[in-house]
Amino acid sequence: MHHFQYKGDELFAEEVAIQDIVAKVGSPVYIYSRATLERHFKAMDSAFAGAPHTICYSVKANSNLAVLRTFINLGGGVDIVSGGELYRALAAGVDPKKVVYSGVGKRDDEIVYALQTGILLFNVESEQELDRINEVAGRLNKKAGIAIRVNPDVDPETHPYITTGLKKAKFGINIERALEQYQRAKAMSNVEILGIDCHIGSQLTKVSPFVDTIKKLKRLLIGVREMGVDVKYLDLGGGLGIQYNDEAPPLPADYGFSILEETRDLGLHLLFEPGRNLVGNAGILVGRCLYTKKGEEKNFVIVDAGMNDLARPALYGSFHGVRPVIRNQSGVIEGDIVGPICESGDFLVKDREIPNFQQGDLMAFMSAGAYGFTMSSNYNSRPRVAEVMVDGDKFEVVRERETLEDLVRGESIPAFL
Ligand code: LLP
Repeated sequence: MHHFQYKGDELFAEEVAIQDIVAKVGSPVYIYSRATLERHFKAMDSAFAGAPHTICYSVKANSNLAVLRTFINLGGGVDIVSGGELYRALAAGVDPKKVVYSGVGKRDDEIVYALQTGILLFNVESEQELDRINEVAGRLNKKAGIAIRVNPDVDPETHPYITTGLKKAKFGINIERALEQYQRAKAMSNVEILGIDCHIGSQLTKVSPFVDTIKKLKRLLIGVREMGVDVKYLDLGGGLGIQYNDEAPPLPADYGFSILEETRDLGLHLLFEPGRNLVGNAGILVGRCLYTKKGEEKNFVIVDAGMNDLARPALYGSFHGVRPVIRNQSGVIEGDIVGPICESGDFLVKDREIPNFQQGDLMAFMSAGAYGFTMSSNYNSRPRVAEVMVDGDKFEVVRERETLEDLVRGESIPAFL
């Protein structure tokens, strides 16, 4: 469910006509619905109402400060994977004690930053990282809270690029070797074992891989507790999918029910790191048709938004629905919606039936709130687009469109040229 709906033939974000936003801000533009963000957060939060838990929103999905603040206001924490994400989360006002830090490549300066900030815990992804965190914490005379990110070797049955919990993935520590690392951690003077962590993949459309994972983690938990360690947290990562097209992912309530069934008696505080589920359907990318090209073999609708703005179709062949901002097209055509980038992979829609868009028509690429703007780039020297948040009948620009000057900011021509 989301708040991008037609009133008559005109597409609205909550109570604001998309067309009015574009008139003021220009196109392309990302538009987020605050009510949808809140709805999704509350659905996830209330799914776990029966247990102590914290929803640590995964910043990578959409790191705009306004989005972060929306969740922080609702009691959320964050899952970060870089010093940059920590900086953003702090700028948005996060409580450091609700920050978990994942990722396979944490640098020393990032570990220092997180320790000085006083985050809740590091999700440790390798043996060497564990040593590093202990060493850096020692230097600062601090104790680092840690959980070991366990790779449970469970198939989440999703796209291979976003599968993370299989043995062959670079993420986490193999479940068979995890106990050994807990033993090492226990002997370290500058780390404190707080939890067990996993994240098995993204865009999961079934609950069973999560349940299989918990069953495996429970065995590990017994082992760690037998070592005399008081494990407090179980971090189950993110990964719950959303509907882009015809997927039917479980509702947060069903996901919650199954997880609570499995974890009820463990006496643990649950942590979750949802990204896509909270923001995916709360955002759209709006673009304008520049040209149409009726090819011999194919029809092309050329828009002002490209793979640098929304990389998912080019990168993963992902489906994003497309809706006209004003429904006045006559009929449909079969073809591609492509961007201005000089690459054949620059498409937003491929080989689909689409409205018969004409020059000047605005269109919305749906479900673009997750991994949309955050994965955008300046490729082809295209300034990154503006981001807008709508709340009821109001809207505000929450990130200015980049300027041409922004494109060369920080660059210089050396004296020897
Ligand atoms: N926690 C960790 C440690 C993660 O690596 C991720 C996502 C999440 C949480 C959030 O997962 P989510 O709830 O959003 O599924 N760019 C890809 C998705 C990459 C996901 C990376 N990790 C896409 O556009 O589909």
